[in-house]
Amino acid sequence: MSKKIAVLPGDGIGPEIMAQALKVLRAMPELDFVMEEAPIGGAGFDAAGDPLPEKTLKLAREADAVLLGAVGGPQYDKLPRDKRPERGLLRIRKELNLFANLRPALLYPELAEASTLKPEVVSGLDIMIVRELTGDVYFGQPRGIEVRNGERVGFNTMIYAESEVRRVARVAFDIAMKRGKRLCSVEKANVLECSELWKEVVIEVAKDYPEVGLSHMYVDNAAMQLVRAPKQFDVMVTGNIFGDILSDAASMLSGSIGMLPSASLDQNNKGMYEPIHGSAPDIAGKDMANPLATILSVAMMLRYTFSDEANASRIEAAVRKVLAQGLRTADIYTAGTKKISCSAMGDAVVAAL
Ligand code: IPM
Ligand code: MG
Repeated sequence: MSKKIAVLPGDGIGPEIMAQALKVLRAMPELDFVMEEAPIGGAGFDAAGDPLPEKTLKLAREADAVLLGAVGGPQYDKLPRDKRPERGLLRIRKELNLFANLRPALLYPELAEASTLKPEVVSGLDIMIVRELTGDVYFGQPRGIEVRNGERVGFNTMIYAESEVRRVARVAFDIAMKRGKRLCSVEKANVLECSELWKEVVIEVAKDYPEVGLSHMYVDNAAMQLVRAPKQFDVMVTGNIFGDILSDAASMLSGSIGMLPSASLDQNNKGMYEPIHGSAPDIAGKDMANPLATILSVAMMLRYTFSDEANASRIEAAVRKVLAQGLRTADIYTAGTKKISCSAMGDAVVAAL
């Protein structure tokens, strides 16, 4: 029976990078996928007055997996908060219960020169950041902006229930077991009660994983260590906001944020797959974005939702081959390589398959 993929291109460069990812999928006809497209983010607002239109959510629920481009754009910044594109993204994560966000930071040897860090610091880098995605200060109540004592105050609530910590910790330990068996839990337990509980629960879960070496690190130190000596890490697990920040930092280790895919999974490995970068409105429509993060997200989809390791590896090998051929989009271009467009990069990956 063919599997259904909800395709949500979104805004900005979203449609361009998604077109390349679909090219790659269509070039693998043995994969029996039905793809159905729907708007999200600003495109959702334009189409239906809602960044997550009901029909889009329905499609995403029915589908076996969701492939997402990017959301957001300056034309939507002045909308009421609940109509803004980012809200559509946050809501779909929450509605589908995608609590475990996997963000691998992997350096392709060919891109060592593209990183802003010294090649010897990043060569061989292979980190997996597991970010909790449906809790924390992103969703905690109460939240708002109101007037107190004659001035405006803005407030959010950092909150984690132990069940939320436990389930994402399990995902991270399971991944660590399949990799280097080292897990670093990142929090701010020296200051925040929320982090204190996080750390306690992670230590409890660790009892079920005696083979995994567990370490703990404060988030400020983790940010520093990521740029000082990133290869010390195997798997990192952290909350929503810390993971948001650390994964952007980690992306630069791999040369460009345009290279990093992600998977957001629920309890049953149903997933949404998206590049970790944004909608890059400044280069939208110019056919110059890097589609590789989205193409690599397709590989993650095959691996995690469809347990198709062979075809996931095939796509990743094709990406490596294209990089080895010296083909680069503008964001990863360095002297001596060949600069090509977004669509040409998609074609090159298809050819390399
Ligand atoms: C990400 C993004 C989102 C987030 C934004 C667009 C809401 O930065 O996926 O990392 O903060 O989670
Ligand atoms: Mg982010």
